[in-house]
Amino acid sequence: MTDVVIMVSGGGTNLQALIDAKSRGKLPHVNLRAVVSSSSNAYAVTRAECAGIETVSLDIKGYSDRGQYTRDLCGLIRNYNPGLIVTAGFLYVLTPEFAEEFDGRVINIHPSLLPSFGGVGCYGIHVHEKALAAGVKVTGATVHYVTAIPDTGPIIAQKAVEVLDGDTPETLQQRVMREAEWVILPKAVEAFCIKNQVNQRQKGHNYDTFAS
Ligand code: GRF
Repeated sequence: MTDVVIMVSGGGTNLQALIDAKSRGKLPHVNLRAVVSSSSNAYAVTRAECAGIETVSLDIKGYSDRGQYTRDLCGLIRNYNPGLIVTAGFLYVLTPEFAEEFDGRVINIHPSLLPSFGGVGCYGIHVHEKALAAGVKVTGATVHYVTAIPDTGPIIAQKAVEVLDGDTPETLQQRVMREAEWVILPKAVEAFCIKNQVNQRQKGHNYDTFAS
C-alpha cells in the first residue's frame, strides 16, 4: 500500500469520501496515513479522529510569513514520507517550494472543470459564484497534479455536472461535491497508488536483477 497524507482546512467532505471509500474496500492500495490541517478547529480533524486517522494541525493563523509556513509544513509532511499527498479542501496557496519538494506526488481536487474558474480567487463557494455569473450550463470537478502555479498542473480526472435552473452557489456546490468531487477523488487516489506500487516493484525488481 501507499502511504497517503491528506491536507485539509475546513469541512473535510472530500476526506470523508476517502474514508468511506476505504471502509467499503474501494481503496485496497491506499493507506490513509495522516491528516494535516491548517486549522485545529477544522471539522475535517474531527472526521479524521472519528476514523482513527492520525491528525496534526499547523495553524496558519499563527504565521505572518507564507514561506515559513510552507517550510514548516514540508518538514512536518516529510516525516511521514508519503507516496502521495492530497490537498482536499486545503484553502491556502503555498510557495513553489512545496510543489518542488513533493514534485509529482501532490494532487488536488478543484470544484470546476479546469482551466475554467481556476486561479486566484477561485476557491470554495467563489468558484460556483463565478460559474453561475458566467452562465455556464455545465460545470464539474477536476483532480490535477499540484505544481508551482495554482490550478494549472496536469489534469488527472474530471467529471461534469449540469447547472440547473434556479441553482444558487450553495446548491451547485453541493451537487458538484456529491456527483463529482466525492466520486473522482477516491478513484484518482487509488489509481495513483496502484501505479506507485507498480513503479516501486519495478525499482525493486531492477535492483534484484542488478544484485543477482
Ligand atoms: C470543496 O468544494 C473542494 O473542492 C474545495 O473546498 C470545498 C470544501 O472541501 N477545495 P471539503 O469539504 O473541505 O473537502
